[in-house]
Amino acid sequence: MKILGIETSCDETSASIVKDGRDIISLITLSQIDVHKQYGGVFPEMAAREHLKNIIPVTHQCFEKAKIKPGNIDFIAVTIGPGLPPSLLIGVQIAKSLAYVWNKPIYGMSHIKAHIYANWLERNFEDKKVFPALCLVVSGGHTLLVLMKSHREFKALGETRDDAAGEAFDKVARLLGLGYPGGPIISKLAEKGNRKAFDLPRPMIDTEDFDFSFSGLKTAVLRIVKEKECCSKSEKKSLDSKFVKDMAASFEQAVVDTLVIKSLKAAQKFKPKSLMLSGGVAANGNLRNSLKKEIKKLDPKIEFFVPEIKYCTDNAAMVACAGFYCSKKERVRFDEIDSDANLRLGGR
Ligand code: KG4
Ligand code: ZN
Repeated sequence: MKILGIETSCDETSASIVKDGRDIISLITLSQIDVHKQYGGVFPEMAAREHLKNIIPVTHQCFEKAKIKPGNIDFIAVTIGPGLPPSLLIGVQIAKSLAYVWNKPIYGMSHIKAHIYANWLERNFEDKKVFPALCLVVSGGHTLLVLMKSHREFKALGETRDDAAGEAFDKVARLLGLGYPGGPIISKLAEKGNRKAFDLPRPMIDTEDFDFSFSGLKTAVLRIVKEKECCSKSEKKSLDSKFVKDMAASFEQAVVDTLVIKSLKAAQKFKPKSLMLSGGVAANGNLRNSLKKEIKKLDPKIEFFVPEIKYCTDNAAMVACAGFYCSKKERVRFDEIDSDANLRLGGR
């Protein structure tokens, strides 16, 4: 079965054709980072304009690369939410138009589930090794723990009450005068810094629930940065490179510790067969290594999965993959789906 995936929930315009849920025949992703980095974050109206400009060329290129005709796909899977409303609208409207013109069924996919399914891409494991799976989804827009009992049973155990982990990386990068997106820059600098240089909080690690909160951590960084700038003798109030590396390392460690502690608590309670990490922040080496090490220490029988780094950030292959496993008979006509920027996990 060949599925065309379309993803435009934030600032990546992506199309992919995936065979039988796992084999990527083609994947084309166009990032808008260059457009947004001057603003230090994603500018929603601008993102929509870029999606509109790029979605048809990206989809065309995807078919060219796959060397197949639209008539040979079985259906279209498109991200309907959660995400930025103007961005989602473009992907969903284009996917509906293609479904109409090509007379294909369409399936509306949750972006969060799609991130989880990045774990299936280009892999060959049996599902019985996986369920129940504890899934930690950490991206720029979301941070949540999910219990996945089967391909059709997802339960959110807890989520962030304010900033997502990726958002915190991006905001702290801005405070430190670094570029956008902040996650990759901070994680590179962190390798050269002292992770114990600053005593930062590990928010909500002692609560009974599985919620997160990262805005206080960002404020703690802000306070130290302001103090440092006040003491700076230089006119420009610039931060010295040792300070920036040490702060990057200390901040990254605080985020990683928090995510690991909460995930282990959930694993102790729900006794999953596997732990699956996903989302843009799953590209972070420290998080990948720490979570794998700690879950094996807790219970060596729990399998640990994390997507290849290139499938952690937004891409349409994970949407097509999720469509393969979740859709069953729920594929519909082009006029029966719509975007939903606040889509909850319980929905499709
Ligand atoms: O999943 P994604 O592409 O988009 C959303 O659905 O939000 O995630 C993007 C987020 C950004 O906040 C970015 O800073 C973060 O993922 N990120 C990282 C790393 N690579 C990307 N955060 C920490 N370490 C990284 N290596
Ligand atoms: Zn995402």
